[in-house]
Amino acid sequence: MYDFKSVPTLDTAERYRQLCDAADALTLGEPDAVANMANVAALLWEFVPNLNWAGFYRMGQNSAGDDELVLGPFAGRPACIRIPLGQGVCGTAAKDSATQLVEDVHAFPGHIACDAVTQSEVVVPVLRDGKVIAVIDLDSPNPARFTAEDAAGVEKLAELLATRI
Ligand code: SME
Repeated sequence: MYDFKSVPTLDTAERYRQLCDAADALTLGEPDAVANMANVAALLWEFVPNLNWAGFYRMGQNSAGDDELVLGPFAGRPACIRIPLGQGVCGTAAKDSATQLVEDVHAFPGHIACDAVTQSEVVVPVLRDGKVIAVIDLDSPNPARFTAEDAAGVEKLAELLATRI
């Protein structure tokens, strides 16, 4: 039985440390990327409070053969399936290979509203050999929910996952 549970009183850094340890344990030695992303989405949902969506977009291609993000495993409500590079928060993170910490999604140019409830968001690219292979997206119904500590925690997770998804 897997029994990964977070405690409400954990401070943010410790919360992400425990999340990364659990993600390491669950994905170590498992070569199936979808299985690993599915378990990590479930862990994010379990460990990070005040979310309405947590999951992955993978780098894929559109019908013309251009790179674009494609929905991957997640927890939360159904979401938009394809996001062109440079569009919205996820597409910007993927195009610029840079974490996007957005306090107010309504103020972000081109934000893609998959769920009107979302107020703030953090998106972190997952890089392998210098290339973006996916992004991790966390959405919250609370304004300014995410801090630099959240971004640093998700970046650690992204590093761990670079060769596991
Ligand atoms: N809000 C995102 C789209 C993805 S969903 O929120 C799950 C964006 O603007 O990239």
